[in-house]
Amino acid sequence: MTTIEQTLSQAVAEITARLFSLPAQPESISFQKTKREFEGDLTLVVFPFVKAAGKSPEATAQAIGEALCESCPLVEKFNVVKGFLNLSLTEAHWLDAFEAERQAEFARGVKPEENAASAQGTAAGNTASAAPIVIEYSSPNTNKPLHLGHIRNNLLGWSVSEILKSAGHPVRKVNLVNDRGIHICKSMLAWQLFSNGETPASSGMKGDHLVGKYYVIFSQKLSEQTKAIMEAEKIEKDEAENKAPLMIQAREMLRDWEAGKKEVIQLWETMNVWVYEGFQQTYDRLGVDFDKTYYESQTYLSGKAIVQKGLEDGALVRKDDGSVWADLRDEGLDEKLLLRKDGTSVYMTQDLGTATLRNEEWKADRLIYVVGNEQNYHFDVLKRVLKKLGYAWGDKIVHLSYGMVELPEGKMKSREGTVVDADDLMDQMENTARETTEALGKSAQLPAEEAQKLYRTLAMGALKYFLLKVDPSKNMLFNPKESIDFNGNTGPFIQYTHARIRSLCRKAREAAGLRPETAETLFAFKASAAVLSEKESQLIQRLLAYRPTVQQAADAFSPALIANYLFDLAKEFNGFYQDTPILRESNPDQKAFRLALAQHTGFVLKKGLHLLGITAPESM
Ligand code: ARG
Repeated sequence: MTTIEQTLSQAVAEITARLFSLPAQPESISFQKTKREFEGDLTLVVFPFVKAAGKSPEATAQAIGEALCESCPLVEKFNVVKGFLNLSLTEAHWLDAFEAERQAEFARGVKPEENAASAQGTAAGNTASAAPIVIEYSSPNTNKPLHLGHIRNNLLGWSVSEILKSAGHPVRKVNLVNDRGIHICKSMLAWQLFSNGETPASSGMKGDHLVGKYYVIFSQKLSEQTKAIMEAEKIEKDEAENKAPLMIQAREMLRDWEAGKKEVIQLWETMNVWVYEGFQQTYDRLGVDFDKTYYESQTYLSGKAIVQKGLEDGALVRKDDGSVWADLRDEGLDEKLLLRKDGTSVYMTQDLGTATLRNEEWKADRLIYVVGNEQNYHFDVLKRVLKKLGYAWGDKIVHLSYGMVELPEGKMKSREGTVVDADDLMDQMENTARETTEALGKSAQLPAEEAQKLYRTLAMGALKYFLLKVDPSKNMLFNPKESIDFNGNTGPFIQYTHARIRSLCRKAREAAGLRPETAETLFAFKASAAVLSEKESQLIQRLLAYRPTVQQAADAFSPALIANYLFDLAKEFNGFYQDTPILRESNPDQKAFRLALAQHTGFVLKKGLHLLGITAPESM
């Protein structure tokens, strides 16, 4: 809700209390934007008051409208259509509101405040507390490079963090690397057996891709061995796989790792360094970062200790074979394994430890986990087990679950032919950006280096916008060609609108004799001298909705709300710009106002794009 709507709700609440003896509840009164076909700016639906008024809907609306005109200086006039009271607000009011809004947003800057203390009081509808929101995202395993699903994950996590900060919350971004377990032993073993000592340096391969290559080799060799055993011994696949020499060796390696055997630890460390260098390159390219990285190898023992304590407290049960379980049957779930019969820990054990450490370390307000929806059950169980163990703070856990991303049939199979590799996809996006931009002749004038930079900016803008504009919970299809269309609901469309506005502002500054390197300030205008067209007043209203949209997006953890807001704003601006002269306007007061309007639109586009991790180019 904008401040204008708050003022109006207050006024309406007072009126309905006075006229119809209703309890004054301004928070239950809301306004809609007036429909295009009617005159007015905001519309109040009066049906909720009709009964108390004891009048027809029309007469009720008429009575409220008359009282509003008298008591509220914001309201210029009104009209009634059935139960709808359409209010026209005064021009002076919109202009004042616009001026206040752009001053406030300009003062806040582009990047959200890092710490809530300074953000507090600046964010509308502030719900910030001093305790940080800790948000985990990315969370890769170390045996493979990042894939398309990770891209959605990373972009969501980073964007939600930025949105929360912008809404005034202190945020800590954390990563969890699942760096131990049988999966990494498989890559290590295959490397030991089949690599002839190949390294990222000797092969020229990115470290995470090299390690991933040996994970694939392991799977291939294992399936050969399994097949041979199935045929020779006439047994089922699972049993045969268990007996395969490679599998036996991998399990042995895991035991050696847990026992701290020197050579195994050394190999593990060497290969980890390769993987982390590779991940870092991908993170840099995606533009995501973390305040802290947790490693499963450093948290799983805390998990085991917690399970041990739960067992002693009688919250958990040990079965005859020695395995340890949480019994969730009275909560309508099943039994959950926490320690295997050989005492080794499982995925859940590690999460118990990681969550506890994290909660203690940050004294968190909430613990958000950005993880795919295939793990919905896992996080449901994690919370319940924590609470069963007596940790009431388990309720702070929020699983920000997201749907799967697929590519259209036939697009881009990765080397392994199963998942789409993150690095490959970004390469492909840059190519598509180059092709599209060249075809439109938009980069012909640019020096090669500038052009390359532009392709990168557009490629990432396209990718990020397309993935973030969809509600996180939904599955989606990523269409590279469509994502880069300059005329669609895309990042490049919004980037392009921003660039046009910036070029307009530069021209205006030049014309005013300002040098490009002097710091940009807000273009001044005289509110008392400007006259508002319908389109200008619409644009102002859209701009005023920015803060409330950020607040909503923060409450819903949804970058999609920001993306869709920016698309509407860019469209609205283009509609205005198409048939309203700005630099060519002869009335200087009118021109000054329009420049201010364009400048602020550009600024809001830039801020909003930043919340999605997208660069707003100065020119295109
Ligand atoms: N590494 C896991 C995977 O790739 C995801 C980890 C999610 N985070 C967590 N705290 N469990 O499936």
